[in-house]
Amino acid sequence: MSAEVNYDSLIPNNVDLASDVKLRRAMEQWYPKYLDWWKQMGPDGFQDCDVYLRTAVSVDREGWAQFGFVKMPDYRWGILLAPREENRTIGFGRHMGQPVWQEVPGEYRAMLRRLMVVQGDTEPASVEQQRFLGKTAPSLYDMRNLFQVNVEEGRHLWAMVYLLQKYFGRDGREEAEALLQRRSGDEDRPRILGAFNEETPDWLSFFMFTTFTDRDGKMQLESLAQSGFDPLARTCRFMLTEEGHHMFVGRTGVERVIQRTCEVMNKNGITDPDDIQAIRRFGVVDLPTIQKKINFHTAVTLDLFGSEISTNAANSFNAGLKGRFREHQIKDDHKLENDTYPVAQVVDGEVKVLEVSALSAINARLSDDYIADCENVMKRWNRVIDEHQIRYHLHLPHRAFHRKVGEFSEVRVTPQGLLISDREWSKKYHDWLPSESDLEYILSLMEPSLLPGEFSNWIAPPKAGINGQPGEYEYVRLVA
Ligand SMILES: [Fe+2]
Ligand SMILES: [Fe+2]
Repeated sequence: MSAEVNYDSLIPNNVDLASDVKLRRAMEQWYPKYLDWWKQMGPDGFQDCDVYLRTAVSVDREGWAQFGFVKMPDYRWGILLAPREENRTIGFGRHMGQPVWQEVPGEYRAMLRRLMVVQGDTEPASVEQQRFLGKTAPSLYDMRNLFQVNVEEGRHLWAMVYLLQKYFGRDGREEAEALLQRRSGDEDRPRILGAFNEETPDWLSFFMFTTFTDRDGKMQLESLAQSGFDPLARTCRFMLTEEGHHMFVGRTGVERVIQRTCEVMNKNGITDPDDIQAIRRFGVVDLPTIQKKINFHTAVTLDLFGSEISTNAANSFNAGLKGRFREHQIKDDHKLENDTYPVAQVVDGEVKVLEVSALSAINARLSDDYIADCENVMKRWNRVIDEHQIRYHLHLPHRAFHRKVGEFSEVRVTPQGLLISDREWSKKYHDWLPSESDLEYILSLMEPSLLPGEFSNWIAPPKAGINGQPGEYEYVRLVA
């Protein structure tokens, strides 16, 4: 990037970048490195295409969703925080009632930095995981949505990098560099959290990821949006406006897959949802395979919440750095020193729910709120199946199923929540998790559909276009 670039106009911001010389200089140094990362690890093969994207240029109604065609490397990634609330006070923990911090409190510096780095690391990771999906997009509409999610995850990285560079001096600049150096799935320098090193090889995985894993993102951002460190709270509050679209892409994506499958079953007189061979003959994804994908993605994502019982989580709550989901709506003392909370655990070979100290159960509570949110998604998916009068119901697996982190990481548990032996597990797990051949089958469907208005056979068209555009709209102008 050359010296004459005007960063003030290039970077939409409401943090007064023009007059913050130190921050500007840090961002100017980081920007070219970010662009290198984007070109190397962002959507593969589509960097020169004009894409119909939403850009946030300010946080008010008119400014945060401007639509137009841009090439992704020219996207105006910005630094936008929700407006400051006058007289905001810390809403939980031992500093409850004190004014929120505008600078990093020295005693919590390390803890805060860690929270931001872990959050920041997930953003570029998902872009890396999704980088090859453009090539197999089931439509231009879906391709555009993928790229929208990708540029916004890029902006979310910017959001955390802004905080690190603004408030953490040299350490922050080093962390900002490291965020561009780790790589999803890399053996030597992987991304920090497990789910962000998994592959996203096909579009069903992408839709599951944006349904379940972006929803974890929502829960994390909601709890950070409560933070007593005001710049973090305001940053996360604005990020949440974008996260809604990511979950929409996921939920409606899976919904359209389900709809297409049901339509094909009905049209061809297939009444048994478990007659997988008959269904697959028509090139759609059978419902039992969708169930297995739900099982897999739920388990991997629940691990992101960390151990159900956690001293770290208790500490960051106590410190006023990370609250609970919608903390301000909860009716308790917000200090939790004398409260308990029910947490599922393994006791004498069974899953039992026991009361533990509420402070240590912060992660368990956040994952409960997450599961409740996911249950609503299940209802919507099942409604589609019901509408087609097919007798099948999708459900979330038990929280203990297939876990690698926390209370259930050492045991084998069925999707119904029964503890079983390793032997039983090895006989049964292919009924619950996608097998190699299931995954191969899904991959075999991934033929791109790239003409305006065209959709691949395995997915139904959406109910409405983006920003009111018609069905045959050319969302991405491909270059030959
Ligand atoms: Fe994000
Ligand atoms: Fe997201």
